[in-house]
Amino acid sequence: MATPTLLKKEEAGSADSPYITVTFRIRRFNPEVSDQAEWQDFQIEIDPKERVLDGLHKIKWNLDGTLTFRRSCAHGICGSDAMRINGKNRLACKTLIKDINPEKPITVEAIKGLTVMKDLVVDMEPFFQAYRDVMPFLVTKGNEPTRERLQSAEDRERFDDTTKCILCAACTSSCPVFWNDGQYFGPAAIVNAHRFIFDSRDEAGEQRLEILNDKDGVWRCRTTFNCTDACPRGIEVTKAIQEVKRALITRRF
Ligand code: SF4
Ligand code: F3S
Ligand code: FES
Repeated sequence: MATPTLLKKEEAGSADSPYITVTFRIRRFNPEVSDQAEWQDFQIEIDPKERVLDGLHKIKWNLDGTLTFRRSCAHGICGSDAMRINGKNRLACKTLIKDINPEKPITVEAIKGLTVMKDLVVDMEPFFQAYRDVMPFLVTKGNEPTRERLQSAEDRERFDDTTKCILCAACTSSCPVFWNDGQYFGPAAIVNAHRFIFDSRDEAGEQRLEILNDKDGVWRCRTTFNCTDACPRGIEVTKAIQEVKRALITRRF
């Protein structure tokens, strides 16, 4: 089959054109058509300063409207467009074409470890179930305060890093333990448990630690650091997991 191509011939290759010709090699899957996924190439013209998400939009809007992927904010905030780009988990909206060797075909596929529903869209439900299981909300007992709950700058600092999570699943879906056994809570759930366990205003730290003391909890982590490498927010994910493990041993948090 001929490669679908979107080229502006008058601009391609001219000295003052910022555009280059790039091949997107996308792993397609449509369960209504076949139970097998297959790679499909698309050629587009794109400014190297544009992002992979812009390339996917060009393809969807001009070459193949059936190409399916999630995105919303387009600015690294909503966490909906994590995908495997050239074999590494990244956000399509934060990945510049010039940074990923556009001379070779750019491979784009769904994140691993979660069931692919169509093309680049996976079933996120197991991921969000693990997130819900660690109680990602402030728990306090007793009367409602009449003013805000105060916290020192030092206490706030203890969980600052883990407040940055945007639930993109880049970490969990890069973890080999999660690939082998989707029952593992996964780094994202632990990061979000960390955010509350180390919050001095919260009163359910023990409860969350017990949840993560489970056979599918923190002890499954083998410290491979894939999660830390994959996080588009630069969160020190493995360090947060280590802190939760330490809190489980010392019961101090
Ligand atoms: Fe995404 Fe990082 Fe949160 Fe994992 S910890 S879900 S990689 S933002
Ligand atoms: Fe997995 Fe990260 Fe641990 S990749 S094994 S959760 S350090
Ligand atoms: Fe929202 Fe990329 S589209 S993070």
